[in-house]
Amino acid sequence: MVKTQEAWSSRLGVILAVAGSAVGLGNFLRFPGLAAQYGGASFMIAYFISLVLLGIPIGWAEWTMGRKGGIAGYHSSPGIFHAIVKHPCGKYLGLLGFIIPVMVYMYYVYIEAWCLGYALNAATGVLSQPGMNYSSFFATFTGAGQDGASIHFGLHDVGIFVVIVYALNFFFIYRGISKGVEFVCKWGMPVLIVIALIILARVLTLGTPDPAKPDQNVLNGLGFMWNPKEIVSGLKNPQLWLAAAGQIFFSLSVGFGAIITYASYLKKKDDVVLSGLTAASANEFCEVALGGLITVPAAFVFLGAAGIVGMGTFGLGFNVLPHVFAQMAFGQFFATIFYLLLFLAAITSSLSMLQPGIAFFEEGLGLGRKSAMGVLGLLTALGTALVWWFSKDLKALDTIDFWIGTVGIFICGTILIIVFGWVIGIDEGVAEAHQGAEMRIPAFYKPVMKYITPLYLLAIFVMFILANV
Ligand code: PHE
Repeated sequence: MVKTQEAWSSRLGVILAVAGSAVGLGNFLRFPGLAAQYGGASFMIAYFISLVLLGIPIGWAEWTMGRKGGIAGYHSSPGIFHAIVKHPCGKYLGLLGFIIPVMVYMYYVYIEAWCLGYALNAATGVLSQPGMNYSSFFATFTGAGQDGASIHFGLHDVGIFVVIVYALNFFFIYRGISKGVEFVCKWGMPVLIVIALIILARVLTLGTPDPAKPDQNVLNGLGFMWNPKEIVSGLKNPQLWLAAAGQIFFSLSVGFGAIITYASYLKKKDDVVLSGLTAASANEFCEVALGGLITVPAAFVFLGAAGIVGMGTFGLGFNVLPHVFAQMAFGQFFATIFYLLLFLAAITSSLSMLQPGIAFFEEGLGLGRKSAMGVLGLLTALGTALVWWFSKDLKALDTIDFWIGTVGIFICGTILIIVFGWVIGIDEGVAEAHQGAEMRIPAFYKPVMKYITPLYLLAIFVMFILANV
């Protein structure tokens, strides 16, 4: 086993890195898309229940187990499980914590490249040309709608941006935990929040841009997303519960192997309880208060409900929103900073998907850092090329995202909480979490983490199977 000496250089650094992992495309595109699709208020009820019963407790388990594995000298998810479970098969329980982030990276980075590409195309005025057809621009840009993507490398093609985004990710990962990841997140996160607040101020002051359509105003836009519409019937839909729980996992980066890996670079006396809660709260602020108030209301004001319903996550971000910005005063500026915001949010997340892979190749195959990066680079580039080739329509990406980004992490999250509550044992697990902690886990979380979280996951699974067979 190759031991690394890497560590976080400050407490704020690790919190910002985990928050950076959490705040991503999930907050600004996936969340508003889902909330609008499932009827605002009912979705939010299931969402908050999932936050309290899944996101926060599994997050604490992950931080604690990561730090414990790191103290034993392991940083990859299989290594950490091996150190904790102390059974020859233990490492296999951690395998998903390597496979999932690597697979999510393959398509996530592709969308990250769209964001950078759209930011540049917005800045150069391409997106605000009069009479622009956004769906055909999107189709040409991504190669979607063609017979397999053709590879071009111009400003209007995703290719060059995929290359740039790969180079940036691997450059920062190469620089390591404190000089790479921590550095990007310390700069990127504050900038991201400032940009989001500027855009939010713009959206909330949009008023009623078209006097001929008085209903399409900001208040109705907010209402479209948040109003309690048919709450009871909404909550009867099992798909809604699955989507809400999946969003909590995805958005908080919980159950992916990302947090467990980051936490493994903590030291024995470093706090995990308050840090975990702080990073989660930062994510929720960016999701509900920023992500939830920007995209959907803005789209509603200009396009009405019809422009939003059924667009899917990516349709909303790359077909609907450019259209919305083009109609707004100073739209070119706002579109540029919006896609820049998406790009910043995405890169701090994609870095956290690479680190589990690097740690695995270093530890599992005994490779040096450079070789580990090489292997991971080849593997993920192949995957991204496949995603690119097959993503002829946006629905394909939504489908991949559903199976890996929702179903896959359920399994991973279930393994995590069961190992924490039953293999380590809840008393010992919580005591371990409390080492060096600046806040105690509230007492009621013991039974929650031992019984309720696993049962809740089981219930969602059963609902899912019943709804799909
Ligand atoms: N949390 C990120 C987002 O909201 C996605 C992510 C998932 C990041 C898994 C890291 C690991 O976009």
